[in-house]
Amino acid sequence: MNKPQRFHPADRMAALPPYFFHKLNEKIARLITAGVDVIRMDMGSPDLPPAPFVVQALKRSAEDPTHHGYMPTGGTLAYREAWAHFYGARFGVELDAQKEIVGLLGSKDGVFHLALAIVNPGDVALVPDPGYAPYTTGARLAGGEVIYMPLLAENRFLPDLRRLTPDILRRTKLMWLNYPNNPTGAVAPPEFFGQVVQLAQAHGFLVAHDAPYTEITYDAYRAPSILQIPGAKDVCVEFNTLSKTYNMGGWRVGVACGNAEAVQALSALKSNIDSGFFQPVLDAAIAALTGEQAWLIERNETYRERRDIVVAALRQAGMQVNPPPAAIYVWARLPDRMMDESPEAQRSGDEAYAEQLLEEIGVSVTPGSVFGPSGRGYIRISLGTPTDRVKEAMARVVRWGGGL
Ligand SMILES: Cc1ncc(COP(=O)(O)O)c(C=O)c1O
Repeated sequence: MNKPQRFHPADRMAALPPYFFHKLNEKIARLITAGVDVIRMDMGSPDLPPAPFVVQALKRSAEDPTHHGYMPTGGTLAYREAWAHFYGARFGVELDAQKEIVGLLGSKDGVFHLALAIVNPGDVALVPDPGYAPYTTGARLAGGEVIYMPLLAENRFLPDLRRLTPDILRRTKLMWLNYPNNPTGAVAPPEFFGQVVQLAQAHGFLVAHDAPYTEITYDAYRAPSILQIPGAKDVCVEFNTLSKTYNMGGWRVGVACGNAEAVQALSALKSNIDSGFFQPVLDAAIAALTGEQAWLIERNETYRERRDIVVAALRQAGMQVNPPPAAIYVWARLPDRMMDESPEAQRSGDEAYAEQLLEEIGVSVTPGSVFGPSGRGYIRISLGTPTDRVKEAMARVVRWGGGL
């Protein structure tokens, strides 16, 4: 018999490297099978459950025999109105639930797909570096040219807008921002958002602000929405989610809101991709968004305690680290001597350090270079891990030292 002909995946898959956490999960599964007690502080997945009244709403809704069919793409009007209520109560931002809000299967869904609805081949997408990977992969899949905006400590992890040349701005169709920021934990002052809105209005591009961490803040800090800036709805769309705010990462329920044209384009795209939600998930989301919010204060206090444990331990271990005012990550800089890399080194210092931490003491953190070239030399520690395990992990790090 002749050798069978083989197929090859599409060329566009070159724009989609395997997701870092997908590979890490496989490695950790092998270590656990070998008997290692691995403490995961890598993924930004909240460990705590949602409030009981939210779970009750899901259960009640699931008992209804009429709640098991297909639902409209983009969510029911009641779900979108619940987000309008949230934005009004929290930010004083008025949103039209019919035209300015679309439900998403988690915000990652919309974050990845947005570029397909907005970016033409050759258009520039400005992406924060370090940043959440789907900004880059979504734009590349759409054929866009990704230009990184470095987020550097000396600029408080805000992009330096003065570095965007007239030529870049002329070709820009989409700018991604994310505050409170993953992975750096940095926050943006409203004045910065004001400058971005002005720039976008002057050059006619869309600003996509990814804002999953606005409700996880510490020490009296309150995060703004970019939609609070006058005129923002002309040029901005904001992504939000139940995942982090309400501890509902596995439920896959989020939103995009703001500029009606962008929301409608994303909605039209998604109507071709998926077939809506499971209604009980939407009903529980409505309960979370419109119900009592006071439980979030105690939840944030839990994260704050973990943040302080991590910051103190990493400083003791010799790293440079500031306590983040928001989000669920500590972004720590390794000592400069650990950045020394021979030209033939296959890995950056942060990748080598994270690998050693995992293999030698069973603590899993994320190397900063996973988030882009400006993440080199940092590690990201997630606070979505039970407090006693955070303490144990940090005790191991301090004891080990690891050449720091
Ligand atoms: C910056 C950022 N955007 C979006 C998401 C996705 O959240 P979800 O898809 O669960 O709504 C995450 C999750 O880690 C994130 O860190």
